[in-house]
Amino acid sequence: MKGKTVVITGGNAGIGKATALALAKKGAEIVITSRSEIKAKEAVAEIKKSSGNDKVDYVSIDLSSQKSVREAAEELKAQYPKIDVLINNAGCYVSDLQLNVEGLEMQFATNHLGHFLLTNLILENVKAAGKARIINLASIAHKSTRELNLDDINYEKEEYGGWKSYSRSKYCNILFTNELAKRLKKDGITVNSVHPGGVRTEIAEKNANWFTKLGWIVMKPFMVTVEEGAKTSIHLASSPEVEGETGGYWVKSKKFFSNRPSQEEANWKALWKKSEELVGQEFQA
Ligand SMILES: NC(=O)c1ccc[n+]([C@@H]2O[C@H](COP(=O)([O-])OP(=O)(O)OC[C@H]3O[C@@H](n4cnc5c(N)ncnc54)[C@H](OP(=O)(O)O)[C@@H]3O)[C@@H](O)[C@H]2O)c1
Repeated sequence: MKGKTVVITGGNAGIGKATALALAKKGAEIVITSRSEIKAKEAVAEIKKSSGNDKVDYVSIDLSSQKSVREAAEELKAQYPKIDVLINNAGCYVSDLQLNVEGLEMQFATNHLGHFLLTNLILENVKAAGKARIINLASIAHKSTRELNLDDINYEKEEYGGWKSYSRSKYCNILFTNELAKRLKKDGITVNSVHPGGVRTEIAEKNANWFTKLGWIVMKPFMVTVEEGAKTSIHLASSPEVEGETGGYWVKSKKFFSNRPSQEEANWKALWKKSEELVGQEFQA
């Protein structure tokens, strides 16, 4: 991957860091994003040391905040005129209802909306790379969502549940992937979503209640390593075998079916329109 620039959100930990390290070993220039400068610096140093690749840097971003996403997008656009691979990997699990600074439900705001905004804002630089690839980390958890109530983003009508909201955000990752893939076909840019497997990270320990934390910790020994969990993202980012493959949902480096409602174009369009409304900007992609 020499000469390629790869941007990975949430590259300071878990699957994102393992993906960054593997792609650094393949010779790509790596840009991780992190909401913590300390964690970013530590991860950059570790990736440089383990890969022997010095072209590793970071940009600070809090994906839950539109202001932070806009500032980070400006930095990325200025510093990296050509982005060959964008891996929208960052994600959170939040047990109890939380709102972001803009007053939107946290998992939707971080896992979907932050990436929707970031991707659209830096799209010119992605297009400048030619046959670029965009990879969105979704999850098999999307299957619990069959309908999106776009009039109740903050769960004011329906009761909030951590899993319910996480599942909704991952379902949104797939709808966004599919709409973006359709829009970018003309540009030769591929967009795919990934379920990485059940991966031994700390995602369900950071903002989770004791019950969820306990369940996660009990399940951890049965989960795969971060290196294993990163394999599908790495495959989609780097393998010549998947050139031109777009609009797919991938598990263990193979194309799978996401649930039926996530395959319906009307649902992709409705989410795109709502997301534009929520960020106060229209995108032609
Ligand atoms: N682990 C699994 O079994 C599993 C299964 C299916 C899908 N996934 C998906 O895989 C992706 C990676 O998850 P992981 O398991 O590797 O979790 P992780 O170890 O917790 O890593 C998540 C990354 O996202 C970052 N992040 C969280 N909230 C953020 C915010 N507001 N702004 C910026 N960055 C933020 C985290 O930063 P901090 O270090 O600061 O928290 C971290 O770098 C997620 O999208 C997740 O939904 C994971």
